[in-house]
Amino acid sequence: MQSSNSHDAVGQQHRTEGENAAQQQSVPRRSKSAGEIADAYAEVADKLARWRQLDRLFAGRYRRRQFRHANGRVLDVACGTGRDFRHLTSGSEVVGIDISAEMLAHARSELDRFELDGTVHQMDAQALYFPDDSFDTVISSFSTCTFPDPIAALHEMERVCTPDGEILLLEHRRSDAAPLAWLQDWRAEAHYEKNGCRLNHDPLATVEQAGLTVTNASTAFFGLVTTIDASPE
Ligand SMILES: C[S@@+](CC[C@H](N)C(=O)[O-])C[C@H]1O[C@@H](n2cnc3c(N)ncnc32)[C@H](O)[C@@H]1O
Repeated sequence: MQSSNSHDAVGQQHRTEGENAAQQQSVPRRSKSAGEIADAYAEVADKLARWRQLDRLFAGRYRRRQFRHANGRVLDVACGTGRDFRHLTSGSEVVGIDISAEMLAHARSELDRFELDGTVHQMDAQALYFPDDSFDTVISSFSTCTFPDPIAALHEMERVCTPDGEILLLEHRRSDAAPLAWLQDWRAEAHYEKNGCRLNHDPLATVEQAGLTVTNASTAFFGLVTTIDASPE
């Protein structure tokens, strides 16, 4: 069910009329503010932390594949409850940031659970406090769907990553399977209002719009899941 493509092939797929229409559909009438998003995740943080097993079943293999080679000083942007931490190599130093203090409380426990050398900080992904070129690898999972300004957040990821480093993303997206895509389009507005998540967004198009150099992209699970590797240069 997984397909891996060169960036050009994927890029071409994404430039079809249907995809462009999907991109239009994925834009909510009003973007929530960072504060509203933080409130939304504060409410669900404990529930999401309890769903750890479900997440491992659905997303575990994609997280492992995408993040197992992250090395050096690693920044996990919008780390949430710290689901990615277990897939990082024990030699790496991990720094997690998130807008929600409630999500970060769980992420802190994950650092302890896996005895990782790391810290977590409450911070807006769109305005990171870190100096330029301060991380070897920047990772982020299921996050660009929630950022009020995903382009600004991607520019920040690029800024804090060393020039020869890597930006590794794992995202959900609008499915390639028509019935699933139709369902996503149908639920998109209500889902955004309730959860602050753009259900049918197109992360590759957003990464391209941000001007990052995509070195690899793949889709899996009926096109619902995508991995994107990008270079800050
Ligand atoms: C769907 S969750 C994903 C969490 C985690 N990366 C994972 O894969 O389980 C989205 C996360 O993005 C965080 N978030 C949303 N907007 C943010 C922002 N502007 N800055 C930092 N974190 C943000 C939310 O608080 C939430 O933890």
